Amino acid sequence: MKIYGEIAKVRETVKAWKAQGLTVGFVPTMGYLHEGHKSLIDAARKENDRVVVSIFVNPMQFGPKEDLASYPRDLDKDAKLCEAAGVDVIFHPEPEEMYTPQFCSYVDMNGLTTELCGKTRPTHFRGVQTVVLKLFHIVTPDRAYFGQKDAQQLAVIKRMVTDLNVDVQIIGCPIIREEDGLAKSSRNTYLNAEERKAALVLSRSLKLGKELVAKGEKSAEAVKKVITEEIEKEPLAKIDYVEVVDFDTITPTETIGKSVLVAIAVYIGKTRLIDNFIVEA
Ligand code: PAF
Repeated sequence: MKIYGEIAKVRETVKAWKAQGLTVGFVPTMGYLHEGHKSLIDAARKENDRVVVSIFVNPMQFGPKEDLASYPRDLDKDAKLCEAAGVDVIFHPEPEEMYTPQFCSYVDMNGLTTELCGKTRPTHFRGVQTVVLKLFHIVTPDRAYFGQKDAQQLAVIKRMVTDLNVDVQIIGCPIIREEDGLAKSSRNTYLNAEERKAALVLSRSLKLGKELVAKGEKSAEAVKKVITEEIEKEPLAKIDYVEVVDFDTITPTETIGKSVLVAIAVYIGKTRLIDNFIVEA
């Protein structure tokens, strides 16, 4: 496995692979890798001849009061996980490699980014789209893998590649959870023991919502109510949002139908966690 910080090195390597007719799977990450990332790498490993993982804490997707400086980083541990998982190349650029001092081009969209996380993180998705498109241009993957935990991000990236005719297949992978139900996230490391327990309210409340849907409930309000009430029972939790939206357009829907996303964001102490489920049929 190679670790490259330079765009040119990645380009050169991928070009040589493609000249041999090999396919390339890509897993973009911000590092501090866990089982969730590992599941994306495993999927990429299964479906492609070569696998590239990017590890880049992208400053552009953090708001001024967000956790860019404290975002957890551990390249050595990440490299070990990648090596064991059969990754061929880690792309780990410095911010200056990705953003020159003259940088002034961005990718943005009118839809999909105004609801859910976009409400409290108004510049987040512009940063995500910009860096992901840049990474796609650098790595030129056949397939790219994103977790369903960031369901809005997944929908945004799918829309972006369709709208901008990017020649890559976007593959969404299921949420990976701790044994007790907490969705795996690099930000879980911010939680102290008491908060870690309290954080279970996310998966527990979504389970109640899911059960209600399974019983045939069609009212988004009713599903939101049961989830909200459960979260409000937890003293350390503060709701950012509990929403039911169409998964493709990320616009609110009143009726639970096919391809509906039930998504929540909750502060546990100072840590903002997200979780969701998708109603397929
Ligand atoms: O999901 C993430 O870790 C990031 O948003 C991504 C896709 C790597 C872009 O920086």
